[in-house]
Amino acid sequence: MTPTQAYERIEQLRTVLRENSYKYYVLNAPTMSDYDFDMLMHELEDLEKAFPQFASADSPTRRVGSDSEQGFEKFPHRYPMLSLGNTYSIGEVEEFAERVAKGIGSEFSYCCELKFDGTAICLTYRNGKLFRALTRGDGVMGDDVTANAMHIKSIPHSLKGEGWPEEFEIRGEVLMPYESFDRLNRERELNEDPPFANPRNAASGSLKLQDSEEVGRRGLICTLYHIPTGQVDYPTHSAALEAARSWGLPVSDKMRICKGIAEIEDFIGYWDSERKHLPYPTDGIVIKVNEMAWQQALGYTAKSPRWAVAYKFKAEQALTPILSIDYQVGRTGAVTPVANLEPVLLSGTIVKRASLVNEDQIRALDIHEGDWVYVEKGGEIIPKITAAEPSKRLPSARRPVFPAVCPDCGTPLVRSEGEAKWFCPNTLACPTQIKGRMEHFVSRKAMNILCGEATVEQLYNLGLARKPSDLYFLRESVLTTLEGWKERSAKRFMDSVRASRQVPFERVLFALGIRFVGETTAKDVARHFGGIDAIAAASREELLAVPEVGDVIAGSIYDFFRSEANLAEIARLREAGLHFSVESREESETSDALAGKSIVISGNFSIPREKMKEIIEANGGKNSSSVSGNTDFLLAGEKPGPEKIRKAGELGITILDEAAFFAMLPSSPAATLPLDEDIEPTLF
Ligand code: IVH
Repeated sequence: MTPTQAYERIEQLRTVLRENSYKYYVLNAPTMSDYDFDMLMHELEDLEKAFPQFASADSPTRRVGSDSEQGFEKFPHRYPMLSLGNTYSIGEVEEFAERVAKGIGSEFSYCCELKFDGTAICLTYRNGKLFRALTRGDGVMGDDVTANAMHIKSIPHSLKGEGWPEEFEIRGEVLMPYESFDRLNRERELNEDPPFANPRNAASGSLKLQDSEEVGRRGLICTLYHIPTGQVDYPTHSAALEAARSWGLPVSDKMRICKGIAEIEDFIGYWDSERKHLPYPTDGIVIKVNEMAWQQALGYTAKSPRWAVAYKFKAEQALTPILSIDYQVGRTGAVTPVANLEPVLLSGTIVKRASLVNEDQIRALDIHEGDWVYVEKGGEIIPKITAAEPSKRLPSARRPVFPAVCPDCGTPLVRSEGEAKWFCPNTLACPTQIKGRMEHFVSRKAMNILCGEATVEQLYNLGLARKPSDLYFLRESVLTTLEGWKERSAKRFMDSVRASRQVPFERVLFALGIRFVGETTAKDVARHFGGIDAIAAASREELLAVPEVGDVIAGSIYDFFRSEANLAEIARLREAGLHFSVESREESETSDALAGKSIVISGNFSIPREKMKEIIEANGGKNSSSVSGNTDFLLAGEKPGPEKIRKAGELGITILDEAAFFAMLPSSPAATLPLDEDIEPTLF
């Protein structure tokens, strides 16, 4: 390779790696596999070594990827937060061990640990209390996520035991266990939000949420694995972590002290298969020199320690036979082929079904009935089939035949130009589509009606609710006569139906289930037009004027309002009392009255808590979930949390009631809100 060619390739690699690093760390939506990313990084490292004249201080080989985002306060790390050198080859682990042994020249040991696949976090404890939690950021400055970390159950707010330094930093990983990940993505799919590609992206996206209580609901865990040198006085890394464990900090019990390469390889071999049984994601093994003195002697490169290396596992795959293929109808009518598989363990969960995506995909993979197939977990809830194994195919195996009619209602399927999927066009009467739309309508982020899948099914089968609007005309006395219902459950259900009348327009618009209109688009469209009549009357061009709305979404909204049935349903929902326009307060009543104020709310108010939070933000304030020295005041409604009241009292923080709070604002929104006796604000 000539220097010119090398220079061109180096520049090319740097661009690609920077782009992908941004997608990975900031957008939490990688488009390249970890393996490919690591391979390109290694190619760049090799080229920079061979052509040192092209070295650059800001090359991706010298910088850790940045997860820094706007909207978070930044603080410097006391010690830079570095990355680890990594490899997929046992041979390179052996080379690492040889290099280290040569550098040390006397007896030492390794501490082998799991490489947890989440997002890095740095916790500072001061006087035994959690003082600050920072993300890695760019390695030098991290984003302050303390309020969110406070909602992760495994992170203690106070240390126990003794011997902890007055102040110290400890680092580790925030992880999303597979169970929480599956639950979250199922919910996102229902809301038409894009699913997270993997638990790691879900963990880092969740740690960066602006709503700390939602962080608490995401089911994150934390595991800690590194105390930067010089902060605690222990001869070995493992002894320091043991001490941290005795202080109540979450330290993994899966680490092992290894004497040489044979024991390291043993550890790697064991976890390569055993990790499939862990409830959280791991992507390799980290091998660290255990003695602190040797760690210090070996030191660091610009990006990573010389005393540690990560051995990474390749993405998990499983090989299993297809038992049968179902053709599933979704709420939009799209028909998806789904393979029923011989159950197999993959990334911590048993996989029984896998998506075959669409007819073209079945053809591209050349799937035959009864084939053995490779399965991988991607972004979807249902894992994906990535390839067939033709060597295991029976000679008599046939290609599957895609159905010509809807498997649910028998209507001939259609496939329009440019669409990869077949659709059941019987939108109004296909039972699966109707039930799917009802489930979406009642879901938590839409109308938040206490009604599960089984209830939708029951109400549908009995002919009591075949359209969302039917829910508003149900009677409690009828519900109590149904199988499985008691007075209490009927009352709770009807209370939630009544409370849903107060759901703001943007969520009502989302609940209508217009194809491609997720939560965020619904909010943008609602705010842009102000009300349903303006949206219904809008031309495609006018719809395109909404930021982030492109041809596909505009076309879908336009078509939705051209359907007589949809317009009739909207009229009926309007009759039921739902909001079909943005309340003036949401649009215009913003001010600086609360600028710079950090406010904690607790208890129930005359309006939903989410509304209260919106009002705070609209007036320049910041919602914070826990009372601390930085809190300006605690806004307390009915039945506030006793712990919050106690802490506010202790720190001398002003406690305001609802009336006093509204009095601070230029106009009192409470006065403009309809107060319905039936509304149960705690339901939100
Ligand atoms: S030690 C100075 N130990 O992997 C080195 N890192 O790809 C400190 N990671 O940035 C890191 N498990 O986010 C260490 N047992 C473990 C780890 C671990 C996961 C992450 C960490 C690091 C990244 C490097």
